[in-house]
Amino acid sequence: MSQKRQLHLGLFLFSTGYHPAGWRLPEAVTDGAFDPQFLERVVTKLEEAKFDFFFLGDRLASGADEQYSFPSQMVRLEPFTMLSYLAAITKKIGLIVTVNTTYAEPYHVARMTASLDYLSKGRLAWNVVTGADQRAALNFSREKHWDNAKRYDYADEFVGVVKKLWDTWEDDAFIRDKETGEYVDKSKVHAINHVGDQFSVAGPLNVARPPQGQIPLLSAGTSERSQELGAQFSSAIFTGEILIEEAKKFYAGIKGKLNKHGREPNELFIMPGLVPLVGRTEEEARAKYFELSQLLVTDFNITALSNRIGIDLSSYPLDGPLPDLSLSTLPSEKVKALVGLAEQASGYKDISVRELFYYFAATARGHLLIIGDPEQVADQMEEWFVQEAADGFNICPPYMHDGLDLFVDLVVPVLQRRGLFRTEYEGSTFREHFGLSRPDNQFAKSATLQGAVH
Ligand SMILES: Cc1cc2nc3c(=O)[nH]c(=O)nc-3n(C[C@H](O)[C@H](O)[C@H](O)COP(=O)(O)O)c2cc1C
Repeated sequence: MSQKRQLHLGLFLFSTGYHPAGWRLPEAVTDGAFDPQFLERVVTKLEEAKFDFFFLGDRLASGADEQYSFPSQMVRLEPFTMLSYLAAITKKIGLIVTVNTTYAEPYHVARMTASLDYLSKGRLAWNVVTGADQRAALNFSREKHWDNAKRYDYADEFVGVVKKLWDTWEDDAFIRDKETGEYVDKSKVHAINHVGDQFSVAGPLNVARPPQGQIPLLSAGTSERSQELGAQFSSAIFTGEILIEEAKKFYAGIKGKLNKHGREPNELFIMPGLVPLVGRTEEEARAKYFELSQLLVTDFNITALSNRIGIDLSSYPLDGPLPDLSLSTLPSEKVKALVGLAEQASGYKDISVRELFYYFAATARGHLLIIGDPEQVADQMEEWFVQEAADGFNICPPYMHDGLDLFVDLVVPVLQRRGLFRTEYEGSTFREHFGLSRPDNQFAKSATLQGAVH
């Protein structure tokens, strides 16, 4: 396995594109969410480019209210079903399933993840979320979505139980000796007899230990509790950061928490979202940005934008200049940096309120938008990587398919030429793509230790 630090790249799937108006471009696909051929085309492209993973998010509630702001999130395939299909048509790429612990049972999740790790030959990872959508409660016979503390108390114990269940069958538990008729070595099968505040689970699991031993976990919450969960258990953390200085602080903060869990900084990868708006030239990329901006369906409600920059913009004309930024309630460096990103996107200074609005509409979900030619996009990625703001990126194409194709065809080769990204897969499992070793079985280990005492 190569020792040189390299970028990790994954796709964060938005079937209508990350930009709210991405699906309205003349060349865009509008109905990929339920189309196996769409998915096959996407995942094949990713695997040819040697991406680390394909990632599907999930939510447990829906409604038509998001059609103008985030259409791809309204309806989509159930993650285990979709990824089982993708596992069958791919060979190398990692697959990340999202499971919300708040509305699940550990035994179910342990078996489903272990099963999919088998079907994908060790390519699965689990994005552990606790859910931010209040409406989910109403779909699961509850009156209210739990608060942050309760959700993470539940998630912490949940993850601990699943991790134990995965280890209940030691790797060499199966003898399958035709001569003696002995199929399994009983001493290598373990109950867990877990009794905690939230769960009581006896075990063992009814699936053998998954190919990766322990399936890697990912987390993506913003709260302190989520970061703690990530520092303890996760192999990667997804974030949404658009300012490099803040991203560097987040990066250092998380890596600084690892020591107390007995972990090394290179065991956890920080992966912000990145929306690459790539053109063959800078002008082409910017023209696409303007085209997307014009296609937004919006009443220019300025409240969210006002909060974002700490200035009430309601009395400023949409096509007039921005107010004096020193009026902001936010730290002035931060506001200047945010407005600077919007100016960079437009390609000139002194942008109007409308242009600022367009920028924040394009990045409303908090991921970094980079507009430019292939070298410019690669430059910014390299800067974030070298300055330890990121170990890689969760790529969110602004529209499909070209938004992904342009990144793969034009930017990935630049990254490869610079030695920043692999040109071949060195391994075949999710763990191997990230250089993570396969953990020992916790029960086998304690048996070995006990053996050593005698
Ligand atoms: C890149 C990224 C992807 C996320 N994907 C999901 C998702 O698919 N489903 C979900 O419920 N939450 C998702 N989240 C949100 C969190 O994972 C988290 O569960 C939620 O925000 C509530 O936890 P918190 O209070 O710690 O933020 C995502 C967050 C980020 C930054």
